[in-house]
Amino acid sequence: MQADDSLAVPKSLLSVSATCLKILDQRALPGSVRYLDCSHVDEVIDAIGCLAVRGAPAIGLAAAFGLILNLEGQPENAQQIMQELNARGDRLIASRPTAVNLAWAVDQMLTYAQSPECDLGSPGWREKLYAQAQSLFEADREACRKIGEAGLPLLEGRRNILTHCNAGALAVSEYGTALAPIYAAKALGRTVNVWVDETRPLLQGARLTAFELMAHGVSCQLITDNMAAHVMASGQVDLVLVGADRVAANGDAANKIGTLGLAVLAHHFKIPFVVACPWSTIDLETGLGTDIVIEERNVDEVCGFQGVRSAPEGMNAFNPAFDVTPADLITAIVTEHGILSPPFSEGLRAGFGDR
Ligand code: MRU
Repeated sequence: MQADDSLAVPKSLLSVSATCLKILDQRALPGSVRYLDCSHVDEVIDAIGCLAVRGAPAIGLAAAFGLILNLEGQPENAQQIMQELNARGDRLIASRPTAVNLAWAVDQMLTYAQSPECDLGSPGWREKLYAQAQSLFEADREACRKIGEAGLPLLEGRRNILTHCNAGALAVSEYGTALAPIYAAKALGRTVNVWVDETRPLLQGARLTAFELMAHGVSCQLITDNMAAHVMASGQVDLVLVGADRVAANGDAANKIGTLGLAVLAHHFKIPFVVACPWSTIDLETGLGTDIVIEERNVDEVCGFQGVRSAPEGMNAFNPAFDVTPADLITAIVTEHGILSPPFSEGLRAGFGDR
């Protein structure tokens, strides 16, 4: 993909300094663009919990910067600093359980904090931690660009792509994961048309993916989640392309609730079902998809939308935020290292794809 630094959507995160992280409040999109100024880890934890920032890589990066916000008041004693960082890390990780990128990013930061290079407590340790968070951000940008390039062959001869939730620029540092090959194809002048699943209950598809794709001039059409079977049955989908929040060692992939249904449909209609994610989403410690913890959110999200109630008062509801697609329904997994084909466990353990 050609470098395109003029992507027309606001950045999900703007790191101003080690004392200020600006988080794009995605709850307000597409209506307005506003940033939350976070100067304390608690504000970042709140922003992750309420989905002001969301998307697996983006919450990991927010956590990396949040972990080190305003360490000025902290003592210069390495042990005490580490205690504070560990306590912050535990709270950040607990703010959303399913996306492994969150725990991964915290772990990267804590490992670096304990390294001789960082040398906690010695002159410049705060700056070094801040530089480490910035380098995770840059690495994610690079990974997303590479996912875009690596995924291009899968779009060859396939114009009509269906996606779910938002796995675009807003969910990462820049470019996106599932949307990255689409942006790369568009940059090459190829014709792509994207079916955007609205993604109940919080409408990340209708609010965020639609916003992004329109801003980039990508041809797209919005459908409600229950229309996906119809558009597939009528031959209008050539490829299903989604992101992931955690991929287990056997290739089972957790993603936004509703993804599993799409995979079952795609299998039935013999449409390729592809997962795109950075390597930070691969969790080799988790053997099977059934071991992945699925976040359950407040049922008010199901009983209405943005404060307008649609279900009767007192109605019971169930609100799992993610589901797990078994590996045998996945045609390919695209990462920054290339395209993995089934069976996935070997390629995932080896750490690279087949490009
Ligand atoms: O609840 P969300 O909006 O954080 O869920 C996001 C998703 O499920 C995305 O598809 C996933 O994180 C991939 S982001 C590149």
